[in-house]
Amino acid sequence: MTDAPPVLEFRAVNTHYGPVHVLKDVDISIGAGQIVCLLGGNASGKTTTLKTILGMVTPTTGDVVLDGTVISGRPTADIVGRGISMVPENRRLFKRMTVRENLEIGAYLREGSDLEADYERIFELFPRVKERLNQKAGTLSGGEQQMVAVGRAMMAHPKVLLMDEPSMGLAPVLVAQNFEIIQQINEAGTTVFVVEQNANMALSIADHGYVLQTGQIVLADTAQALLANPQMRQAYLGEVG
Ligand SMILES: Nc1ncnc2c1ncn2[C@@H]1O[C@H](COP(=O)(O)OP(=O)(O)OP(=O)(O)O)[C@@H](O)[C@H]1O
Ligand SMILES: [Mg+2]
Repeated sequence: MTDAPPVLEFRAVNTHYGPVHVLKDVDISIGAGQIVCLLGGNASGKTTTLKTILGMVTPTTGDVVLDGTVISGRPTADIVGRGISMVPENRRLFKRMTVRENLEIGAYLREGSDLEADYERIFELFPRVKERLNQKAGTLSGGEQQMVAVGRAMMAHPKVLLMDEPSMGLAPVLVAQNFEIIQQINEAGTTVFVVEQNANMALSIADHGYVLQTGQIVLADTAQALLANPQMRQAYLGEVG
């Protein structure tokens, strides 16, 4: 479906939590250098999709493929070491640690040690983070926590950045800023796979989109086509049908 060569793919992936069948024959292709979004309502399986990429959930059948290599079944540390980072749902910062310590953790698994150059990159994206380096992460505002969570993920120099509902709980102005940052990160060369319930915003920056409904991909198209799709507009874009 994508024009760019895929960097990350789901090939007929099924996942279960015990007897509960969550992802059902999911096919996803994320082109190198693209922004791809995964849309869907509560409990549709969005977070499970990201956990499956990171090896926190192992497919019962099917494969997750990174650069042509099957990564499903491998340990999470190995997958992260291959260049995948996540900004988790609700940020998940280490609240009693400082901003600087949270950022350092992001650099833990990567090669090289030039932390200062990395900090400079993060400060360019988020000048506010520089002012808060010695503050305990738990005392930051929600918007600031989001910045640190993105910064932490970027410290690993990811090839692919996964984001789980980055706009959740943020005021509209911060949501818009957040999506601008995602675009900047992408323009600097990182492929982005973003999970969202805010379909309008996600599609406005994405190249391609997938819609997940109770674990099944029900729509997959270019972001432009999805924005114009009547079925999509009625179900996800807030239009009364
Ligand atoms: N560890 C688990 N054990 C059992 N069931 C789980 C587990 N994690 C998730 N589920 C179930 O799998 C389904 C999909 O959950 P998931 O978290 O992937 O949904 P989601 O689309 O991210 O939802 P939300 O928008 O609310 O974050 C849900 O029905 C959920 O209850
Ligand atoms: Mg979720």
